[in-house]
Amino acid sequence: MRTDDAPAGAAERASDPDARDAVSSQRDVPDARERLSDHESEGAHAVISVRRLAKVYRMGQTSIPALRGVNVEVARGEFVAIMGPSGSGKSTFMNLLGCLDRPTSGEYWLNGREVSRLSADAIADLRNRHIGFVFQGFNLLARATALANVALPLLYAGMPREERERRARRALRIVGLGNRLEHHPQQLSGGQQQRVAIARALVNSPSLLLADEPTGNLDTRTGMDIMAILQRLNGFGLTIVLVTHEADIAAYAQRQISFRDGLVVSDQAVTQQRSATDELQELLARRSADGAGGEPVRIREEQA
Ligand SMILES: Nc1ncnc2c1ncn2[C@@H]1O[C@H](COP(=O)(O)OP(=O)(O)OP(=O)(O)O)[C@@H](O)[C@H]1O
Ligand SMILES: [Mg+2]
Repeated sequence: MRTDDAPAGAAERASDPDARDAVSSQRDVPDARERLSDHESEGAHAVISVRRLAKVYRMGQTSIPALRGVNVEVARGEFVAIMGPSGSGKSTFMNLLGCLDRPTSGEYWLNGREVSRLSADAIADLRNRHIGFVFQGFNLLARATALANVALPLLYAGMPREERERRARRALRIVGLGNRLEHHPQQLSGGQQQRVAIARALVNSPSLLLADEPTGNLDTRTGMDIMAILQRLNGFGLTIVLVTHEADIAAYAQRQISFRDGLVVSDQAVTQQRSATDELQELLARRSADGAGGEPVRIREEQA
């Protein structure tokens, strides 16, 4: 449960778990570097290259052309925001990039390999080794702890328990949740649940992180926390493609691609990429300077 009282100053801020976690995720930065280095030797080709990518959903007699010939290249280390109105094909595109679905036609090259022609097993293997996926709704197992949720993909990979838990703890530290290992999802705030989901996406050391509206269920401040984590991960070389409806969120990316009616209608570099970490720090400083007159700082009451 949360209360929206408005404490101010360093002492209260230190008791704000979000602020504490933000600080602890800064401290874990070298860990993140170690974590994200697995794919550095993968060569110079683009992480993603799609050509004339099309997806037609068939429902009985009806065909729904969700993607109608998309060409996009994403280089290693880029941070791309995908925008566009509802129904324009963003999630369809992400599901294809994430190898959760196959295109109707066109090519998808992931780290230099053409995916669409691979067998289902080979695709599953590629997905497990290269891709982390974060969804708007977190998609955590309610009955499992944060640690167990994050370790789960490694169970599928057949890794021994001790190693699974070691890696899961490390991933949770990277997102600033080293102190929430045994919490279940309902004992965590929305932002913390999304951070568990990010840790789960990172646990296989992917070269590509896909996020479909990861801040869609979160308030502005919590959304900024998530973007600060994603920017930090991107700073260590992780390639990120993120869908968002919000221009404010897309401004944290380096490049913005807009979809409309299943086509890319614009693809532009962001001239002044915003730093979510800087903006969060400014926000915290403003709040402490404003005292009780500032925007409320949330205090989480720990649950028994
Ligand atoms: N499984 C499906 N079966 C049939 N049609 C689908 C399916 N998934 C998506 N569509 C249709 O494909 C089009 C693109 O949908 P998509 O979910 O990719 O849009 P979106 O850009 O992600 O929208 P939103 O912003 O609302 O999430 C829509 O017209 C949608 O109705
Ligand atoms: Mg969508």
